[in-house]
Amino acid sequence: MKRSEIEAAVTTGLAAAQAVSGGKNADYIPFLASVPSDLVGLAVVTTDGTTFKAGDADYPFAIESISKVFTLALVMETIGAAAVREKLGADPTGLPFNSVVALELHQGKPLSPLVNAGAIATASLVPGTDAESGWAAILHTQSRFAGRPITLSAEVNASEQATNFHNRAIGWLLYSAGTCYGDPVRAVDIYTRQCSTLVSAVDLATMGATLAAGGINPRTRERVIAADHVPPILAEMMMEGFYTASGDWAYTVGLPGKSGVGGGILAVVPGEMAIAAFAPPLDAAGNSVRGQVAVAHVAHALGRNLF
Ligand code: DON
Repeated sequence: MKRSEIEAAVTTGLAAAQAVSGGKNADYIPFLASVPSDLVGLAVVTTDGTTFKAGDADYPFAIESISKVFTLALVMETIGAAAVREKLGADPTGLPFNSVVALELHQGKPLSPLVNAGAIATASLVPGTDAESGWAAILHTQSRFAGRPITLSAEVNASEQATNFHNRAIGWLLYSAGTCYGDPVRAVDIYTRQCSTLVSAVDLATMGATLAAGGINPRTRERVIAADHVPPILAEMMMEGFYTASGDWAYTVGLPGKSGVGGGILAVVPGEMAIAAFAPPLDAAGNSVRGQVAVAHVAHALGRNLF
């Protein structure tokens, strides 16, 4: 793929995103409501480590649910892909990302590590004896994927920890069903922290490019996860990465991806690149309106769709 083609796709992708409006910043986490709604960033990182970017691609924002992918990777490295499938699942729930009903319908099995219940169960499987050691492992994993030290925003974390009652309830529901594999208070605490780190669109694209490159960070050349673990992680992203809109995304874009309520969107083109965008206003499913347009535009312009 020519450099100029990717450059052009990123430039026109930013303009396409800026041309659409609609959506609303998440406000159930007070910090997110305060982020300027007009920011738009777009980045591509290829598997040879080349970066393309436009707009607010270096602006640091809360990773939120996109963190679920990387904690899943950490846990898969620890317990293996078969145990992940058995304990967490690999199916779409068809219900909102924070659904309690989805849990109740399936005897407490979350079905996917990419919904809140599944991500809290995933956090309960993070190695370490206490919250601090588990948290250190998560932060280290995010940093290895990004190829630079990722840090917690104390401000985002305080905002989330002060309002995460729904997730705490999910933690206890999991525990009562036997599907929280450790202390639910620790699991929800480290899950909440993992959502509160700051990344840019360039960071996200680098993290995704590590998956695109079979588990090797294309910038640091470090192997971050086993190559065998990439396909099941991408499968999870394809099934539930955009929550109730995952099918629409597969139908129209055809790439494994993940969204976050901070406005981040990540999509992976296996073997080639990752495309990431950031724009805070969200649609009803909790996915960035402009971010989806930006990433879809680049994928279409480059003719990349797995199907
Ligand atoms: O747990 C929560 O609700 C947030 N920390 C993250 C949710 C999220 O990003 C859903 N994504 N679209």
